[in-house]
Amino acid sequence: MRGREGEQAAAGGTDWDSLAPWWLETFSNGADIEYELQILPLASAALAGCRRVLDVGTGEGQLARRIARTEPLPELVVGVDPAAAQVRNAAAQQGGPVYLRGRGEALCFCDGAFDGVVCCLVIEHADDGDLFLAELARLVAPAGRLVLVVNHPALQGPGSGFVDDHVLGERYWRVGPYLTEQAVVEEVDQGVPIRFSHRPISRYVNPLCRAGLVLTSMEEPAPPLQFLADSIDLELELAMPRLLLLGFERPAAGRPMRE
Ligand SMILES: C[S@@+](CC[C@H](N)C(=O)[O-])C[C@H]1O[C@@H](n2cnc3c(N)ncnc32)[C@H](O)[C@@H]1O
Repeated sequence: MRGREGEQAAAGGTDWDSLAPWWLETFSNGADIEYELQILPLASAALAGCRRVLDVGTGEGQLARRIARTEPLPELVVGVDPAAAQVRNAAAQQGGPVYLRGRGEALCFCDGAFDGVVCCLVIEHADDGDLFLAELARLVAPAGRLVLVVNHPALQGPGSGFVDDHVLGERYWRVGPYLTEQAVVEEVDQGVPIRFSHRPISRYVNPLCRAGLVLTSMEEPAPPLQFLADSIDLELELAMPRLLLLGFERPAAGRPMRE
């Protein structure tokens, strides 16, 4: 989803209610190759076998719907999103999940209510990452999983991207100031400003480990070939993952947190 149309220092949040029609048209129901070929299959596979799944920042619910029809079928899939228009769009689609309004920073469920929690391309839009992560961790049951999908912080942060240097005749991938936590507004599409809060990978992993979760998997997939159909340097872009998937588990009761 992340684009490189232009960046500026952030001033205020993103109005996801106003963006709901754009999101629906541009990213859902097969409109976006990256979602179809990579994001939905990867994230739903990471939760396969979970019985009660919560999708935090569900948008119009495409991941929740995919999870609801992934074998073995879960008993319950809940999608939450703070934007009323996103929740309305989600509820209007076919499929099994139930939807509620809610923010990742304060969710109305009991501790350990889900054995699968997923948060896909959402936490970058929250300013208080620590609060958000603590809330996600709180909801994961013993032996349950948390799957976090983010724009790859090491390679896709502010100031990162292709540089086509016509003077030196070089093309390379510039990495922005990785350790600098900052929020920027990016115009990801014409007239579509979205605020992103950048934080390094340790700022995701360490709070979750301190909350008793264990990092069990990490995926950095090459972008799908079809997504790069217009690339000016296919070899280079194929070597630059856009996404990072982090899989965590809460040890079952009685098992030590760290072995
Ligand atoms: C890029 S969309 C991703 C939607 C969905 N997860 C997907 O992958 O299709 C980001 C979503 O995060 C939601 N969002 C923004 N801030 C949030 C917060 N603090 N807590 C939960 N969701 C939030 C927005 O309303 C929007 O629907």
